[in-house]
Amino acid sequence: MNLLLDTLLSPLPADGERSRPARLLEVMRYASLDGGKRLRPFLVVETAALFNIPRERALTVGAALECVHCYSLVHDDLPAMDNDPLRRGRPTAHIAFDEATAILAGDGLLTFAFDILARPDAHPDAGVRIELVRALSRAAGLGGMAGGQMLDLAAEGRFGDGKPLPLTAEEIATLQAMKTGALLHFACIAGPMLAQAPAAQREALHRFGTVLGQAFQIADDLLDVEGDAATVGKATGKDAALGKATLVSVLGVPAAKERLAMLLAEAEAALAPFGDNAKWLKSAARFIAERDS
Ligand code: IPE
Ligand code: IPE
Ligand code: MG
Ligand code: MG
Ligand code: MG
Repeated sequence: MNLLLDTLLSPLPADGERSRPARLLEVMRYASLDGGKRLRPFLVVETAALFNIPRERALTVGAALECVHCYSLVHDDLPAMDNDPLRRGRPTAHIAFDEATAILAGDGLLTFAFDILARPDAHPDAGVRIELVRALSRAAGLGGMAGGQMLDLAAEGRFGDGKPLPLTAEEIATLQAMKTGALLHFACIAGPMLAQAPAAQREALHRFGTVLGQAFQIADDLLDVEGDAATVGKATGKDAALGKATLVSVLGVPAAKERLAMLLAEAEAALAPFGDNAKWLKSAARFIAERDS
């Protein structure tokens, strides 16, 4: 993944570009190369492998998705959002550079994702590429990640009297399905989309992606409570300080862990139709639930 992103983010202008300003390129590289777990591209590659899709195509789609994910982290960490100084064990982009540069890094990475996805390297059939573009933009936008981030900030009480909104577990699950789940869900349906797979297989991976997204955010929220910053690579204990709505804050740690275990079992069950071919996806689900970073 690093190799591909490194090549894509080269100083040479692509067709139709006048130049690639060094500072913007540098911050985009800072935010996207090295350090991340690369979970989303891994899921794209492994779901695509179930259908024998050529690896280069899956990696291209994975690179586009990782660009959207990295952009979401840069903006999530900005002073106006979560105001986080540490990401992937390093200073966040707005600390290492400056706020305006970090905002532009996000703009650059988000739009670059669709440049990558529109290339024939992603799929030779333009119809399939359009399907991928539509799915990724919906996962990233108004009804997906950006929408979920809006709900997340609103739940802190920022746009009202400053008091956290009393959300139910169901409302929190919806917020999380949008802010984090949507991109992970895309990672799981990209493979069957690339393969133009039959409905039953698409449905199985849709189910897998949905529960995996829920499991991922519960694990993230548990790490915020129980993890230590040096291992996690980002500040911890921030959710409670900011009054974030999380399932851990509403259900408590033991019940959140129970829910996580249930989701992991559901994720594994969703993969049953693929038998042993899905063994890496099963390990990924276990890793997501049990990770310490
Ligand atoms: C962190 O995602 C942000 C959330 C969506 C909660 P990851 O834990 O996948 O971050 P990296 O890419 O490994 O840094
Ligand atoms: C953010 O969730 C998810 C994104 C859309 C980036 P968090 O705010 O919990 O992510 P971390 O804990 O900062 O990685
Ligand atoms: Mg956040
Ligand atoms: Mg954050
Ligand atoms: Mg978090």
